[in-house]
Amino acid sequence: MPLTPVLTKRFGTKAPWQIENYLRLDGYAGLEKALTMPPDDIIAMVKESNLRGRGGAGFPTGMKWQFIPQNDGKPHYVVVNADEGEPGTCRDLPIMMNDPHSMIEGIIIACYAVRANHAFVYIRGEAVHAIRRVTQAVNEAYARGYLGDDVRGSGIRFDITVHGGAGAYICGEETALLDSLEGKRGQPRLKPPFPATNGVYDAPTVVNNVGTLCSVPYIVLGGAAWYKDLGPEGSPGTSIYSLSGRVKNPGQYEAPMGTTLRELLEMAGGMSRGKELKFWTPGGASCPLLTREHLDLPLDFDAVAKAGSMNGTSAVMIFDEDDSVVQAVLKWTQFYEHESCGKCTPCREGNYWTAQILERIWTGHGTLADIDTLLDVSDNILGRSFCALGDGATSCITSSIKYFRDEYLALIETATDRSTVSPALTGVSA
Ligand SMILES: Cc1cc2nc3c(=O)[nH]c(=O)nc-3n(C[C@H](O)[C@H](O)[C@H](O)COP(=O)(O)O)c2cc1C
Ligand code: SF4
Repeated sequence: MPLTPVLTKRFGTKAPWQIENYLRLDGYAGLEKALTMPPDDIIAMVKESNLRGRGGAGFPTGMKWQFIPQNDGKPHYVVVNADEGEPGTCRDLPIMMNDPHSMIEGIIIACYAVRANHAFVYIRGEAVHAIRRVTQAVNEAYARGYLGDDVRGSGIRFDITVHGGAGAYICGEETALLDSLEGKRGQPRLKPPFPATNGVYDAPTVVNNVGTLCSVPYIVLGGAAWYKDLGPEGSPGTSIYSLSGRVKNPGQYEAPMGTTLRELLEMAGGMSRGKELKFWTPGGASCPLLTREHLDLPLDFDAVAKAGSMNGTSAVMIFDEDDSVVQAVLKWTQFYEHESCGKCTPCREGNYWTAQILERIWTGHGTLADIDTLLDVSDNILGRSFCALGDGATSCITSSIKYFRDEYLALIETATDRSTVSPALTGVSA
């Protein structure tokens, strides 16, 4: 399976973030074409391409755009979710650093399609380098007439505001992001109403991930049929798989949706320590773990769901036989405990308790009853939380017990005192 650079095609070329270099490599050609089409035709084209959101849930983008009410007399907005907080995920930042104009081009096309004149790019606060680079690119786009009044003679004004968040995972959840953008505490809103009718400033709003919007200029230029041919029918296009952990050459590998981990490992030089694969995440920490038996599973939205996990953000974290699954799950659970916004009880209290129990097991003070308690608390979080952070937090716990119950039992039965061992991942096996 070869690399298939579409979104990453300019990576590695000369300063691709500068507008003159971007223009030399088909830059803004998708926008020029889009502006010759009626906005509804663009929505129809994106719908026909079956592009699915890259932010995690895989919602069909064309359908999302179509939900924006027309002729309602209200301003419409496009909001770009560039928070990228899912553990293991690293593809929005490389896009913004290497090719920020492709995102800007996708944003302007999206604005034109849904009749919005103003977009916000919400970038997590720690990513100061990305905030600077995107701001610079936005300024270049204004200077060259791709933003501002009468863009490319269309008679339409488009504006982009770059907004830095404050580094909270929950602010990647689209409605918490909107509250944060409005200057409020970032906590999820009750849905419905959905952002399509009541988004930022209570106006119709499209919220899309960076990778989703970057795909749009290519679809407009190449056509829906070309895009559909790139991947499986239900999950077309390419994905930037971010490989991390026990792999020789960690990094971003763009390949068609439906590529398997075996193929990705081949591209990345194999396992880093010559050890056997033990467990891995197909789409970030919020997706149930998979094992060696899933090496040939096509990594697309439908196939991964069928196998009991989620394609999520295509963040593939790889662990080998010397890694403790309990230790990894403890670290992730501590992350969710810390990042829970506290709005609802199952998530706020549940993650506090699962973190305590996992720490007890890991440090050699667990009891046999702890495994059932972990499953019971997880069951009380899953489906009872206000937003998907709570549900996602249970994924690593329940899947690790499903596949590696013996490892939990061994830690409990040997009761080795690890209370002085840092819970940072050390590669210590159970
Ligand atoms: C806790 C949590 C964190 C999230 N973080 C992100 C994120 O960092 N980036 C993102 O695009 N979507 C994130 N999402 C998903 C968004 O809510 C939303 O589905 C997405 O931005 C929609 O864009 P898309 O349709 O282009 O995928 C998160 C969801 C949850 C529940
Ligand atoms: S599930 Fe967690 S993050 Fe989501 S609203 Fe409830 S407390 Fe907040």
